[in-house]
Amino acid sequence: MTDVAVIGVQWGDEGKGKIVDWLSARADVVVRFQGGHNAGHTLVIDGKVLKLSLLPSGVVRPGRLGVIGSGVVVDPFALLAEIARVEEEGVRIGPDNLVVAENASLILPVHAELDAMREGATTGVRIGTTKRGIGPAYEDRAGRRAIRAVDLLHADSLAAKVENLIVHHNALRRGHGAAEVDAAALTAKLKEVAPKIAPFVKPVWRILDAARKAGKRILFEGAQGVLLDVDHGTYPYVTSSNTVAGQAATGSGLGPRAVGYVLGIVKAYTTRVGEGPFPTELNDAIGDRIGERGREFGTVTGRKRRCGWFDAALVRQSLKIAGVDGVALTKLDVLDGFDELKVCVGYDVGGARYDYLPAGLDAQRAVRPVYETIEGWKGSTVGARSWAELPAEAVKYVRRIEELIERPVALVSTSPERDDVILMKDPFGV
Ligand code: IMP
Repeated sequence: MTDVAVIGVQWGDEGKGKIVDWLSARADVVVRFQGGHNAGHTLVIDGKVLKLSLLPSGVVRPGRLGVIGSGVVVDPFALLAEIARVEEEGVRIGPDNLVVAENASLILPVHAELDAMREGATTGVRIGTTKRGIGPAYEDRAGRRAIRAVDLLHADSLAAKVENLIVHHNALRRGHGAAEVDAAALTAKLKEVAPKIAPFVKPVWRILDAARKAGKRILFEGAQGVLLDVDHGTYPYVTSSNTVAGQAATGSGLGPRAVGYVLGIVKAYTTRVGEGPFPTELNDAIGDRIGERGREFGTVTGRKRRCGWFDAALVRQSLKIAGVDGVALTKLDVLDGFDELKVCVGYDVGGARYDYLPAGLDAQRAVRPVYETIEGWKGSTVGARSWAELPAEAVKYVRRIEELIERPVALVSTSPERDDVILMKDPFGV
């Protein structure tokens, strides 16, 4: 039996939510290990749409334990709001089906404000963040001044910790010409919310160790994608966490053997939200058509996503970096009805041919994609649950992608609905 990590392989929004939800039927525990409420996971269950940001997707299934690991940055106010929102949809959340790592760092209002100030500034690099405070919260974690979930349980020492954090933030705020923050007021706000968060705060490493010993199946749910990884992505246009599968171990408190199988989620074309290089971007009617058919608008911010052809060179690189074993190919149905499709197989940089995206931002901006043209298909792939239901050209497209990315396609998703999946290999091996 293997534990499975699911990660995005492109710039996020690959359709991880549906696959994680589908796999969580086979899992006992679902663990988030990085990111925060910048993530947006859309689940469609019996035609009803449920949007999750911070909660692990598994919580919507009765009997599963959802875990928010130490690698996640947790906004306590956003967490409570999301719990209230999903409870209105009939999903019950309590300490028996959700735990938050004691050592997870908190996102506070000062973080979201700083994020927005930087994004709005006329100097510096505008990343196009979700303005949720993700970057500033990770900075404070690395700077060893973060407030952590466990600190909410110790009211006596909370004020001193908040003071230490706010001294730093007020210096930054003065630089931005923003009003200073009153540490005592923030402490009071946190004390108010603490009793509601406290029941969820537990030693996650211990719970996961016990789950593993008891033979429970653990599913690690990644957010964003490899190309947004702070080390391996298109830096500086990235998020502030590691999004690769190795983070599943670090961000949960299980060792490097935490994950037996890494499933990479790959969309049948490419999208990106926010700024940064995007070699196969289509600023034309084809890009618009993909965006409309794929409903490519951000779950969290509602922003229109940039759309482009499938980039096999970039996906192949990401799969290798992240150690992906097999791929779930999503949103194939969005490509229904095109006469021909293009797939990027490498790049041209000033006459030199590359089979990977070079690391420098200047080179990344200069690359010109080298395309291979593949015949499109006339019929519909929507809702297919077996190869036999797919048009022959769609099967060829999938097989060619498989060759180019050098990893097997373990499953194909053919609609947002939970069970519209063609399964080649069950990642849990059952
Ligand atoms: P941040 O994570 O809010 O700091 O944003 C950094 C970059 O990551 C921006 O380009 C965002 O658009 C992108 N990003 C963050 N979360 C997601 C996500 O869940 N899906 C897609 N892009 C994301």
